Amino acid sequence: ERLLGRRQLLAGKRVLVTAGGTVERIDPVRYLTNDSSGRMGFAIAEAARDMGAQVTLVAARTQAQPPTGVELIRAETAEAMAEAVLQRYAQMEIVVKAAAVADYRPVQRHAQKLKKTEERLVVELERTTDILAELGRRKRGQYLVGFAAETNDVERHALDKLKRKNCDLLVANNVAEAGAGFHGETNIVQLYDGGGLVASWPLLSKREVAERLMQEIAARLPAGAA
Ligand code: CTP
Ligand code: CA
Repeated sequence: ERLLGRRQLLAGKRVLVTAGGTVERIDPVRYLTNDSSGRMGFAIAEAARDMGAQVTLVAARTQAQPPTGVELIRAETAEAMAEAVLQRYAQMEIVVKAAAVADYRPVQRHAQKLKKTEERLVVELERTTDILAELGRRKRGQYLVGFAAETNDVERHALDKLKRKNCDLLVANNVAEAGAGFHGETNIVQLYDGGGLVASWPLLSKREVAERLMQEIAARLPAGAA
C-alpha cells in the first residue's frame, strides 16, 4: 500500500541525477578529484526509481555500488559530464545535480608522466563549465535541483547559488559538520527555494534524505505536468 503510493508519485517521470566526484587528469597517472563518494546521488537515483521514475544516472568517480534499474552513464571529467547532461536535458522533467564537479582542471594534460626535474612545479588550472548554471540558463520547464557544499554561512551561500544558477530547489549541507557531506552513509541538509528555507532535516541516512527529497520534489511539480 505504502510502496504503491510512493511508486505513483513519480510514475513515468524522466529524472536525471548526477553523482560522484569528477576526475581531472594532470598526466597518465595523476589527477585532481574530491572526496565525493557518490552515495547521495545513488540514493537519489534509487529513491526516484522506487517512486516510478525513469532514471538516468550520470556518474563520475564513485565508491559505492551503483543502483540497478536505472540508465547508468559514466562521465569522468567535468566536461564529459557537461556533455552527457546537456545532451539529455531537453528530454528531462527533473534534474538533480548531486555530483561534486571540479571547479578547475589542469590547462595542460601531459601525455607522458611528469618527471621531477624542478624544485617547484606550478600546475596551471582553468575553470570548468558550470553545468548547473548552464542548465539554469537553458531551463524550459524542467524542475532543477542543485546541491551546495559549504563549510560556513550555509544559508547565504545556498540562497546565492539558488538564484545565480536559476534552480527551483537547493539542497545545502555543511560539509564541516560531523555526519554530513561527502563521507559516510548519513547527511544533514537544508532545503531552500526562492522564498527561503523550506525544510531543515536532522541527521538521516542518505537513503532517507533521498526519499524525503524526491517526495518534496514530487509535491512541487506543477499539477498536470506531463
Ligand atoms: N556544479 C556544476 N558544475 C560545476 C560546479 C558545480 O554543475 N562546474 C554544481 C554542483 O553539482 C552542485 C552545485 O553546482 O549542484 C553547487 O556546487 P558547489 O561546489 O557547492 O558550488 P559552486 O558554484 O561550484 O561554488 P563554490 O565551489 O565556489 O562554492
Ligand atoms: Ca564548486
